[in-house]
Amino acid sequence: HIIDWTPDMAEKGGYDHFMIKEIHEQPEAIKNTLMELTDIEKIVNKMGNVKRICFVACGTSYHASLIGKYLFESLGGIPTDVILASEFKYSAGSLDKDTLVILISQSGETADTLKALRTAKNTSKTLAIVNVLGSTATREADYIIYTRAGPEIGVAATKTYISQLTCIYMLAGLLCKHGDLVDKLHEIPQIIQNMLDNEDYIKAIAQKYRDAQDFFFIGRGFSYPTALEGALKLKEITYIHGEGYAAGELKHGPLALIDDEVPVVAVTPPGESHDKTVSNVEEVRARGAHVIAVGAESDENLQSEAEDVIGVDDSIDEIMSPIPYVVPLQLLSYYMSVARGIDPDKPKNLAKCVTVE
Ligand code: G6P
Repeated sequence: HIIDWTPDMAEKGGYDHFMIKEIHEQPEAIKNTLMELTDIEKIVNKMGNVKRICFVACGTSYHASLIGKYLFESLGGIPTDVILASEFKYSAGSLDKDTLVILISQSGETADTLKALRTAKNTSKTLAIVNVLGSTATREADYIIYTRAGPEIGVAATKTYISQLTCIYMLAGLLCKHGDLVDKLHEIPQIIQNMLDNEDYIKAIAQKYRDAQDFFFIGRGFSYPTALEGALKLKEITYIHGEGYAAGELKHGPLALIDDEVPVVAVTPPGESHDKTVSNVEEVRARGAHVIAVGAESDENLQSEAEDVIGVDDSIDEIMSPIPYVVPLQLLSYYMSVARGIDPDKPKNLAKCVTVE
């Protein structure tokens, strides 16, 4: 036998980078996270009635928190705030004993998030959603949910984001008594797998835009945080300026920047926000922008409006869209990073875990 695998290749399971390996592990990550359901049920039973929620997080975990706000407010009518951990000390004045503070952190060690956790404990019940077992946050919060995505090596979060979302959906399903949410989660791994099996299509789009200098990502409602996360991935690993924007807010400034050199990624799942986002696509196209739309496979409207359309299974509605719809955005950034000769696993100036305030 000839051993033609280096130890480094073996660690990456045959993939070129940890990031792409971790993107491909997402269907499995969701399945593992779903096994937390009984633990989450126990926590929900112990907590009783939740009158108000305040999410605290940084980076990608902050974007998962934003999805939480849309879920808890629309399904449960629970007033929900989302605060960046580094801003928490300036705006935590209205916390009280009826507020559940939910801290989201992959590492459980981010300094700003830990600081906020310690402050929040003075007034409120705290729940930490964490990936790393035994990390500091898990020792200090009142309740803990593990995301169980497995170790994530790539600096840019991918599978841990998907697992955080899965946890938030389970929690919302239980707290807001929407059992169908949990049922729908079980269908997502296969839907993501199908997209991963067709990633060459996204790779080709990435090649086409590798030399862009600015990008916009737009979406409304549940797709707004997805747009923010798409833009963050782009900045982190391609060093291209990417801005995530609420699609309806474009006309209040950024439209002035749009021309044929600024590609726009539109997140347009079927649902309430769809037609309005499509109108925004028309607006940017009228200014020359090349549009890449992520939407339902059989969305004919998008086919005629956008230059490139990345199709997601038709069964995915707006509420469930944040989980599968982020996957093509991760792939787009990954393949652009590689096309630009950057190591996506180790972006410059960034660390996996930030332990300073
Ligand atoms: C760093 C990482 C990000 C991560 C953020 C929050 O900036 O590079 O990927 O989203 O920290 O980390 P946490 O471990 O608290 O989720």
